[in-house]
This record gives sequence, C-alpha cells and structure tokens, in this order.
Amino acid sequence: MADSLIRIINLWILFPIGLFFRLVLIFSILLIIRRLYVYGKKRSKVAVVVLGDVGRSPRMSYHSVSLASHGFDVTLVGYAGSVPHPLVLESKNIRLQFVKEAHVTRGMPRIFAYFYKVVTQSVYLLWTMVVQVSATEYILVQNPPCIPSLAICCFLSVWNGSKLIIDWHNYGYSILALSLGENHPMVKIAKWYEEIFGQLSSGNLCVTKAMQEHLFNKWNISADVMHDRAASIFRKLDNEERHKLFLRLGQDYPEFVASGKGESRFTHIGELGVSMKNDRPAILISSTSWTEDEDFSVLLEALQYYEENTSFDLPNILCVITGKGPQKSYYQKQIAAKNWKRVKIITPWLEASDYPKLLGSADLGVSLHTSSSGLDLPMKVVDMFGSSLPVAAVNFNCLSELVQHDVNGFVFENSAELSKQLVNVFSDFPQDTTTLNRLSEEVEKFRNIPWNEAWDKNVLPLFKR
Ligand SMILES: *[C@@H]1O[C@H](CO)[C@@H](O)[C@H](O)[C@H]1NC(C)=O
Ligand SMILES: *[C@@H]1O[C@H](CO)[C@@H](O)[C@H](O)[C@H]1NC(C)=O
Ligand SMILES: *[C@@H]1O[C@H](CO)[C@@H](O)[C@H](O)[C@H]1NC(C)=O
Repeated sequence: MADSLIRIINLWILFPIGLFFRLVLIFSILLIIRRLYVYGKKRSKVAVVVLGDVGRSPRMSYHSVSLASHGFDVTLVGYAGSVPHPLVLESKNIRLQFVKEAHVTRGMPRIFAYFYKVVTQSVYLLWTMVVQVSATEYILVQNPPCIPSLAICCFLSVWNGSKLIIDWHNYGYSILALSLGENHPMVKIAKWYEEIFGQLSSGNLCVTKAMQEHLFNKWNISADVMHDRAASIFRKLDNEERHKLFLRLGQDYPEFVASGKGESRFTHIGELGVSMKNDRPAILISSTSWTEDEDFSVLLEALQYYEENTSFDLPNILCVITGKGPQKSYYQKQIAAKNWKRVKIITPWLEASDYPKLLGSADLGVSLHTSSSGLDLPMKVVDMFGSSLPVAAVNFNCLSELVQHDVNGFVFENSAELSKQLVNVFSDFPQDTTTLNRLSEEVEKFRNIPWNEAWDKNVLPLFKR
C-alpha cells in the first residue's frame, strides 16, 4: 500500500518536477552557448518589424531610414504589397524582408479562423525571423497589430539576446473592442497580453504624450514620445501646379472645370501666368474610412446648414471626400439625393500621387477621426499639416497635441459648430482669407520641425548602449 503510494508520488509528482528543472537547465545552457555564438555578429544591426504592408507603414519606414543614416544595418520586415518608400529603396543599409501573410479560408467558424490565423502567422513570422534575418542587436516592433508579433519578437529577443523596443501607435485591444465590445473575454485576453509583453520590452516609443502617460500610469511602462510627421511629398502647390491638377481631374470630375470653356473653375491664365480666380469655390477636403467610428453624417449635416444659411452671401464649396470603406455607398446615395446649389460633394477615386497634390491645393481640411483608445492622433491631419493646410477636426481626448482651436485650425464638437466655423471662415472668401492665412502660417511652424531632429533627440538614445 505504502509502496504503491510512493511509486505514484514518484511517478506523477517528483519525476515531472525533476524533468521540468532538467529542461530549464538544458535550455539555459543552450541559451548561453547561443548568446556567446551570436555575440559580436549582431552589433549595430536592427530588425524593424511590422505585421502590415511595408509600403503603407510610413512611420516604420522613417525609423528604418533614420537608423540607417546613423550607421545601423537595418532589416525591414513586413508584408509585401504597395511600393515601399523611395528612401527605403534607395538606402544601402536597409534590406527588405517580406513575411508571408496568413489567410483564412472562407466559411471557417469565426473563433477557429482567428486561432488558425494566429498560429499560421506565428509560424510564418518565426520562420522569417530565424531563417531569413540574421541575428540583430535590436528588434523594433510596431504595435498594433500585437498578435502575434509582440510575443514572437519577445521570444526572439530572449533567445538571441536582442533588445526589444516597442513603438506604440495605439492599443491592439482597443481596436478589437470596437467590434467586440469592451467586456468581451477576447478583449480582456488581448489587453493582458499587451500589458505582459509591453513590460518585458527594454525600450518603448509612442505617438502622443497622452499615450505616454497612459502607458506609465496603467502598466508602469516608460516610453519616449515621437510625434508623427508628414512625408516630404506633402506640400503646398503653386498656382501653376494647381491649374494642371484641376484640368487633369476635370477629365473625370467636371466639378473642377468651368463649363464649356475647357478651363479650370479655380484658376485662369493671364499675362502674368496662372492666378486664382476671384469667384472660385472654396475647396474643402476630407478623407474618411467610412466606418462607424468616423461619423460622416456630422459633415453632411454641417454642409446642409451651410447650404441653407440665408444670412450671408456665402461662396460655393466643393467638398472632396476620398477614401474607401463599408459605409461609402450608403452615404453616396444620400449625397446624390441632395439638390444643393452652394455645396457640391464628390467622392473621387484618386491615384496615390494625386491625394497629396489635392491636399496642397485645398483651402480647409476636415477630420472626423475619433481614436479607438483616445490616445493616438489622426495621420490624415498630420498629412494636411504637411501640406500647410489648416484643419477643422472633431474633438477627442488628445487632439490638442496636434490641433489648437483658432491657432492652427478649428476644433468642433458637433455639426452646428462645424457649420458656424465654415460660415465664418468662408464668409468673404476668396477676397478675404486673413483667418485662413493666419492659421496656415501657424501650421507652417509645425511643418518646419524636421523629423530627423526630433528623432535624434527622442529615439536615438534608445539605440545607444
Ligand atoms: C535569432 O536567432 C536565430 C537562430 O536561433 C537566428 O537564425 C536569427 O537570425 C536571429 N534573429 C534575430 C532577429 O535576431
Ligand atoms: C515600475 O518599473 C520600475 C522599473 O522599470 C520598477 O523598478 C518598479 O518597481 C515598477 N513599479 C511597479 C509598481 O511595478
Ligand atoms: C448663418 O450662420 C451664422 C453663423 O453661424 C448664424 O449666426 C446664422 O444664424 C445662420 N443663419 C441661418 C439662417 O441659418
């Protein structure tokens, strides 16, 4: 009896414990050998990892370019798709390494599809990082997406003795909460996962001061703030460039050309070259993802008030809205039903290179972005500022880090406020553009702080021993 009890204890308790410690010991020895082996091979090398289209990850591309310019050997890891940034392609110190993207087949149950995707994506990323990327001194990873990249990069950093640096653009769990609701168990797991791996990193970056405070207060993670900057293709166009753009867009969208004369509605050619017309409509531009968290009806309603306002003799507005998304056709129907005289809305499909040009030719930008976490800033406002374009933006938690009301743009809470701002700013347009010019000068100041200077101050120290 006692004999068999001892045998059971031995077999089911002591043996597994012993085995566990032996495995830990073997792993530790392997780890030490491994680290001695890679020591020296990985100096000044950085893997920059983003589980997203590399060409659509401007911030990670700029990090790579800045690292390369400071003599680091950079491997930029991400999905293939659109053309990567020209500076990335030009740099001799940057190597691109694409990861295969996991896809789920249609008809799989949702929860199963999710796990299937996480597992296959982990395998693909691990394979790429182990087989195709040489050992590096640092791993800089973008978050979100955090599943599975944070865990994989964290594991690799332990295994290879690399330092893990996380660039927080937002929280993955807060994006998940948009579709599942805050109290969903998956959201709780994702939050916990982000917290754990966030704390295991050896350095952190984030996009706003509000996020810096949040990371520190909630999770005891200290991060450096690196605000986003627009790419250099964003700039104000001169009259001649605008003229060309309007004529070209006019081939598909007659709103840009004067009827019958084959000339643009905004510009005319005189003896002194191209000048802007005195009776031109104001160009209002917005890009939206047409999702529920960007409530387009606010802008539509504000324009309705503008259209119906009889107190002033207001100029016409051409409102250009770019972007693709689920609610686009729903709103297109509503727009088509409006029989407005003053306001025209078009939702063109623009070539990637035409979007910056149109921003550089517009009079006012509109942002309807509200953040899922309230802690990240809309990139489209950064791009508008890059084009010296003042912005009317819907208010949320940390917007003031970017847009200051009546300084470099307007902040509104609802459609009534937005329409009031439109009426005020355009009431004597285009004869009197004092307010727009004043805001634009202030925007210019933001534009003139170069990325490199801020990067050297805020980010470089993380990569120095
Ligand atoms: C990590 O280690 C593997 C081998 O275990 C090596 O092949 C790989 O290059 C290393 N990767 C990084 C990113 O350090
Ligand atoms: C917060 O982190 C620091 C080191 O980064 C550590 O010394 C400190 O104990 C942590 N505080 C809490 C409350 O976990
Ligand atoms: C027109 O707009 C101005 C400024 O927002 C407002 O004071 C006025 O009441 C509006 N008039 C009408 C008829 O809506």
